[in-house]
Amino acid sequence: MSKTISGFSKLSKSSKIDWIVETYFSKNAEAKHIIKQYWNTNIKLQQLHDEFIENTITNYYLPFGVAPNFLINGEMYAIPMAIEESSVVAAASKAAKFWLDRGGFKTEVLSTTKIGQVHFMFHGNYNTLNTYFKIVKPKLIQATKHITKNMEKRGGGILDIELRDKTESIEGYFQLHATFETLDAMGANFINSCLEQFAKTFREEALNYDGFSENEKTIDIVMSILSNYVPDCLVRAEVSCPVKDLTENPSINPEEFAKKFIQAVRIAEIEPYRAVTHNKGIMNGIDAVVLATGNDFRAVEAGVHAYASRNGSYSSLTHAKIENDRFYFWIEIPLALGTVGGLTSLHPLVKLALELLHNPTAKELMQVVAVAGLAQNFAALRSLTTTGIQEGHMKMHLMNILNQFDATDDEKKTLIDYFKTHTATHSSVVDAIKKLRVNK
Ligand code: MEV
Repeated sequence: MSKTISGFSKLSKSSKIDWIVETYFSKNAEAKHIIKQYWNTNIKLQQLHDEFIENTITNYYLPFGVAPNFLINGEMYAIPMAIEESSVVAAASKAAKFWLDRGGFKTEVLSTTKIGQVHFMFHGNYNTLNTYFKIVKPKLIQATKHITKNMEKRGGGILDIELRDKTESIEGYFQLHATFETLDAMGANFINSCLEQFAKTFREEALNYDGFSENEKTIDIVMSILSNYVPDCLVRAEVSCPVKDLTENPSINPEEFAKKFIQAVRIAEIEPYRAVTHNKGIMNGIDAVVLATGNDFRAVEAGVHAYASRNGSYSSLTHAKIENDRFYFWIEIPLALGTVGGLTSLHPLVKLALELLHNPTAKELMQVVAVAGLAQNFAALRSLTTTGIQEGHMKMHLMNILNQFDATDDEKKTLIDYFKTHTATHSSVVDAIKKLRVNK
């Protein structure tokens, strides 16, 4: 059977599955059953999911969990998280509880500007181009009125368009660098539509501009696209408490804990190998909420990591200090999120997640997501600088190992009890299962 096919997207769902199974799973009698067992019996709901993308053959489940007890700016939140990593929700919940008794999280949106660019080539005199740009700029804005009308009614829209000369890097390369306020929408479609209209008007008007020589009239548009780098769409979240209140464990001295914790943050600030893992832990929290609320985690990831390298070296997204015997720990990150449009009004679980968060504005969601990142990093650093990460991690991972061995409910109960007082490693869990089964 040939492994290539044309017109795959036009086949019915069951014909697609038949082709996949016949072509790639000739030795797996279970394949069709595995694919189909994830179908939803609610036909309308299944169709909704089928139509999110092309060539859907089944659904891919991720656990949807909740981390309660987050006090944010004086209000209580239970944060929805969609994630497969076993310890993430537990760690978030633990950090939430810890800071609940110490004043909770304080957050602030610092800016909300988004960016898009028209990249083009122009081979001619810069001053002439600049004069043309100044003349055409109001026309660019006017030409997008059919796109911006509603956004403007709500208080958003195009903030500015600049001409940027990039010829030092690439001969003839310029940009229309535009800034936008998209309010509660993530704004990707809005921005891209505006940019494509800018490009069209910019190129067409140039053909009739008398100030250009014949050669200069041809502006070569390369592409028009939003940027996922949003260093001016920033949110800050912070926790703080007197150093003496910093631990709940009498065996850990609070001053020692604060010192080590701050050392761990400093290391992530100056050492990229550590910073990447440190920030990965932060993204455990951030991505989980971004995904649960129907936002684009790839866009967030790309923008956040670019921001982490903005000073020329990849660095920590969080910072910590002691001032006047008070411990401060904070994060500042760019987050372009939406609470309207996209999946937010389509996916029933996304709608539920947003409802759980009191139907937030995009600004409120930015604050909740930043808190999830900060909480996750606090939990990770607290474990790393005290007990080590494996103790808590393996406790949570224990269930995965038990499931790999098809443990019965009774076996699970016995072994979970056992590992409350014994160190769980992969091999110690495997040994314990085998022993339990031999002794039966
Ligand atoms: C694991 O998913 C995340 C951590 O490695 C983060 C960190 O090291 O800070 C625990």
